[in-house]
Amino acid sequence: MSAETEAGERRVALVMGGSRGIGLAIAERLGRDGVRLAVASRRPEDAVKSMAESGLEAIAAPVDLTNGDPEAGADAALRQWGRLDICVYAAGANVRKPATEITVEEWRTVHRLNLEAAWLTAVACAPAMRERGWGRILFISSIQAFLGGYDFGVRKLPMAAYSSSKAGLLGLMRSLSREWAPFGIRVNALAPGFTRTELTEPMHGDDALNRAITARIPIGRWAEPADMAGIGAWLCSEEADYITGQALAADGGYLS
Ligand SMILES: NC(=O)c1ccc[n+]([C@@H]2O[C@H](COP(=O)([O-])OP(=O)(O)OC[C@H]3O[C@@H](n4cnc5c(N)ncnc54)[C@H](OP(=O)(O)O)[C@@H]3O)[C@@H](O)[C@H]2O)c1
Repeated sequence: MSAETEAGERRVALVMGGSRGIGLAIAERLGRDGVRLAVASRRPEDAVKSMAESGLEAIAAPVDLTNGDPEAGADAALRQWGRLDICVYAAGANVRKPATEITVEEWRTVHRLNLEAAWLTAVACAPAMRERGWGRILFISSIQAFLGGYDFGVRKLPMAAYSSSKAGLLGLMRSLSREWAPFGIRVNALAPGFTRTELTEPMHGDDALNRAITARIPIGRWAEPADMAGIGAWLCSEEADYITGQALAADGGYLS
């Protein structure tokens, strides 16, 4: 993908939740393509240090999105780089409990991080994109936006707070894609399937559960974060200009 505008200027991406897992993989791919980065999360410093050691241009924007100020990411990117072309919202958390056992505090935390902060981040990024008539916003949703938890026989995994937040993210994505299409801003979602990260450690770290999940994935393996990197970067590229308002499931065939 070209990281430069027609005028030969380098593009800039804000990656919220870019310190590890799927967000980190997409950030590193964008960085290798020549995009300048602002990496936002509670502890983005180590990721940014290792990016710098690999020759990528990145700054750290520490922010706790459940308590803090979601606009801080966009502010940091604009302060450092003076422009903002791409926003990837990958921050997320899950509560795997029956709906009757989820506390109001847990529900609000999941929805604040997975949905409300995504909206506030997009709104904070849009003016800079609109000013230049070009922008890409990519929300990392989940196949759980289309499902109601899992039942793997060996273990049930209910997740009403998570599923509803990820489905909500698709509604937000579709609304913003229509509102901002006239300004050159494309808004899409990537819906990963089972991906081996810290978030899913309780699942892939449990042998019986891991085997049961793998058996249901048509291509026969979990995704690695690297499986999401090229897809995410492409959805943020010039080439994807005619795609907006879409959710792309990258799930090894799970939903098929
Ligand atoms: N792994 C999967 O199978 C899977 C499947 C479908 C969808 N997803 C979605 O993909 C996205 C990335 O997930 P992942 O698996 O890569 O998870 P992960 O490895 O746990 O990474 C989560 C990211 O979110 C950041 N984050 C968490 N809480 C935060 C907070 N309060 N404030 C700011 N940043 C916060 C983390 O950074 P800090 O700890 O530094 O804050 C980290 O960068 C999530 O939205 C997840 O729902 C994952």
